[in-house]
Parts: sequence; structure tokens; C-alpha cells
Amino acid sequence: MFRHFGRKKLFAMLLALLLLSLCMSTMLLRSASAASTLAQAGAQSGRTIGVAVEANLLGNNPYTTIAQTQFDGVTPGNEMKWQTTEPSQGTFNFGPADTIVSFAQSHSMKIRGHTLVWHSQLAGWVNNITTSSALLSAMNNHITTEVTHFKGSIWYWDVVNEAFNEDGTRRSDVFQNVIGNSYIEDAFQTAHAADPNAKLCYNDFNLEDMNSAKSQAVFAMVSDFKNRGVPIDCVGFQSHFIVGQVPADFQATLQKFANLGLDVQITELDDRMPTPASSANLNQQAVDYATVAKDCLAVSRCNDITIWGVGEPDSWVPGTFSGQGQALLYDQNYQPKSAYTSFLNALAGTTVTPTPTPTNTPTPTSTPTSGSSCSVHYVISNQWNTGFTTTVNITNTGSTAINGWTLVFNFPNGQTLQQSPWNGSFTQSGSTVTITNLSYNATLPPGGSLSSPPGFNANWSGTNSPPSAFTLNGSACTVI
Ligand code: G3I
Repeated sequence: MFRHFGRKKLFAMLLALLLLSLCMSTMLLRSASAASTLAQAGAQSGRTIGVAVEANLLGNNPYTTIAQTQFDGVTPGNEMKWQTTEPSQGTFNFGPADTIVSFAQSHSMKIRGHTLVWHSQLAGWVNNITTSSALLSAMNNHITTEVTHFKGSIWYWDVVNEAFNEDGTRRSDVFQNVIGNSYIEDAFQTAHAADPNAKLCYNDFNLEDMNSAKSQAVFAMVSDFKNRGVPIDCVGFQSHFIVGQVPADFQATLQKFANLGLDVQITELDDRMPTPASSANLNQQAVDYATVAKDCLAVSRCNDITIWGVGEPDSWVPGTFSGQGQALLYDQNYQPKSAYTSFLNALAGTTVTPTPTPTNTPTPTSTPTSGSSCSVHYVISNQWNTGFTTTVNITNTGSTAINGWTLVFNFPNGQTLQQSPWNGSFTQSGSTVTITNLSYNATLPPGGSLSSPPGFNANWSGTNSPPSAFTLNGSACTVI
């Protein structure tokens, strides 16, 4: 009888323990998914989440707001390339790159230096050098001067970029043709001598599938470097993907290179598709971004994922691949796409099935609201059988002034703006309404509301629900 009572007690205790551990794991899952930025989500597992930026796009705009709030890493898109930094021999220009370095440092972002030796965006004079000694001297001087200029600021350098062909042979460029195979290790030695604390990467595209001839050739080179003590710390996998084509063995490839004693980084991630984008492709893209995040998280030496741009307007893809685009996490209006949400969730270690996204419809609702620094009160002050009048009250709930703002929301029921809205510059594209400040109501002081809030008349039929989400300069606002 006593033994029977004891067993019951034991069973009850075990049940209680099970329930407790279930509760705790749910709480942990909740806290893991509570990250409100990509940087916060990546930081939960010690990963840096970076973005490529261009100096001439930085300013008071959604692009910059997103770069500085969502990411904790920066790669200059073009400004550290030879064409810009040494346009004529011995004349150096670090101005554009310095702009990005200052931007990154003022927001505590790590900096990937990109790139010291590359056949493209190379200053023309380099291609005219015909002797090995002269080119080696020019290359080493370029590397030493640039690495020294940025000494102490750069986390990882892409020392040599894209030196291989798809078939695994060396690319025929001036460095290969005039100096020969040894130029790559010379470049690493020189960079290391100039800044022994900077980590040094070889960076390339189409390395992600270990079965490709190029991936195997790069693997052979870097394992030889490791064996011979050439100072290499990392391999950068550019990861310019086509939607639905993230290689199934990407995680295994990252691990294979990491096993050499190297860090592995995803350095230029994007995922392009034909435009206008279909909802099926946007959904697949959300899966792809989550897959890449999981692949990196599964490899302890994968410590960085850098996205190659903020949103569609600044992406290199539409200008290079005609009829393709939508490769990034933010759309043409700098609104987060479903890929943003699924990438964020995957970084935070939660598995969420992406919500289908209608074609070309931005999804402001997908931005997490915690941590937002604005609130919006959408007031319908008058409504009649076909029309209504609205005032959109905007409050800056943050602690710094907002100078210049763009508010974006979606009409949920097919509402359409009428002519002559007030206190803002308005556009409507599909269901998306974008309102930008006028000169007299550009500033929102900390804790303050617009004294001249934007307003409009619009048409409706059937239902006239208010928008459920708003973003101000790319960040989600609390809806009140
Ligand atoms: O700045 C000029 C502007 O004044 C001019 O009006 C305009 C007209 O074409 O061109 C502007 O320069 C462009 C530059 O980007 C700045 O936006 C160049 O044409 C354009 O060719 C250049 O493209 C860059 C590309 O490298 C060159 O190959 C992209 O921005 C940059 O994102 C891209 O990045 C590379 C990585 O470095 C290496 N891996 C591949 C990746 C994509 O190509």
C-alpha cells in the first residue's frame, strides 16, 4: 500500500517536473524570438549580421535607418575597391570609405574590408603593368597603404576576391597573368604584415556547393595555405543565390572549410528572382533566407552573415540581371518582406512557417513592434457612404529627434486616396500608401507629436478598417 502510494507520488512529481520543463522551454523559445532586430537575433548565438552599404546613399532616409538599427556589421559596397582607393598610382583616396567607417563606428558596427585585390573595379593603370616585379610592388604598396590606413578598424579583410573560374582554374587577370599563382599568398602575407590583428579572408561566389570544381579548387588552395602557414583566417562565401537554389550541402560545405581551422562567413547574401515577383517566389525566398541562417548557425565557426544591400532600390541585381531583382530583405519601398521575418526567426532559433505574401505587396505587419520608437493614431473623423476623412497622428516615442520622415501603411480593404491630401506628400501604389513630410513638419522632437499631422480624404466600399501596421523611416510603429 505504502509502496503504491509512493509510486503515485513519484509519478505526480515527474509529471510536475515535465510540465515545468515544458513551461521553461516555451519561455526560452519566447525569449529567443523576442529579438526585434536582425542584429539582436544574431547576437543570441554570437553571430554578426552585416549589410553592404554605399557612402553616397547614407543620409536621413529609410535606407540608413534600417542599416543602423537592424544590422551590427557593415561592408562598404564599393568604396574600398582599388578603383576608388588608388585611382592613379601612388594617389590614394580613402574619403568615401572613411565615411562608411565613421558611420559604422558611430553605430558600434563591425567592419568587413572589401576588397584589396580584385580584377573588377580595378584602377585602369594596374592593367598596364607588364612585369612581375613592378606589379608585385604596386600590389604590395596598395595593400600596405590601405590596410595601414584602416588599421585597428577592420574586423575581417577580403584580401583577394574572385580569383577562380567556375572550372576551378585561376581567373585570367593581370595579377595571375603577370605575377602567377603566388600573388594570392603574397597578398595575404602583405596584409598580415600591415595589420597583424585583422583577420584575413579569401572571398568568392559559387563556393557554396562543395561538389563544384570551383569550391574544390578553393578548398585545395586554402588547405595548402593552412598547411604552409600562409596567414589566412577565413573563407567568405558570397552567396549570391537564385530563389529556390540554395545548395542542399551548404551547411556541410561551411563545415568542411571550417574543419581546416578557418572561420567561414556568408559575405554577400542575396536571393534573386524574376520581377515582378510572384508570391510563390517570395515565399520560397523566405524559406531560402531561413535555410541560410540555419546553415550558418549549425556551424560554430560561421560567425557572420552579411546581406548585400538593404532593399530593392540599392541592390546590384536589377542593374546586372535584366528582369530580375527582389533579392533582399526589404522591398522597393524599404518595407520588410516575408524573408525578413523568416530570417529573423531563424536567427533567433525559432521555426516559423512563412506566411504567404501576396505578389508585390509590402508587409509592414511583419516588422516586430517591440523596440519601436514611434506610435501612430489613425483617426477617422468623418465617414459617409463612399468616403471618409482621416488624420494620421504620429508621435516620436524615442529619445532622439527625427528629422525627415516617411510613413508607410497598407489600406486593408481597397480604399483609395482622393485628391488634395494635406500636411504631407502622398503616393498610393496598390494598397500601399507612402507619406513623406513637407518642409514645415519635418521634425518630430523626442516624445513629441506632429503639430501638423498628415490627413486625407479617401474612398471606401464594403468595409473601412484602419490599417493594422505603420512604419516610420523603415521601423514599425506601435498602433494606438
Ligand atoms: O557611381 C556611378 C554613378 O555615378 C553612375 O551614374 C552609375 C551609372 O552606371 O554607376 C555608378 O557606379 C556603379 C557602382 O556600382 C556604384 O553604385 C557602377 O556602375 C556599378 O558597376 C557598380 O556595381 C557594383 C559591382 O560590384 C561591380 O561589379 C555594385 O555596386 C557592387 O554591389 C558589386 O559588388 C560585388 C562585390 O564587390 C563582389 N562580389 C560580387 C558583387 C556583385 O557584383
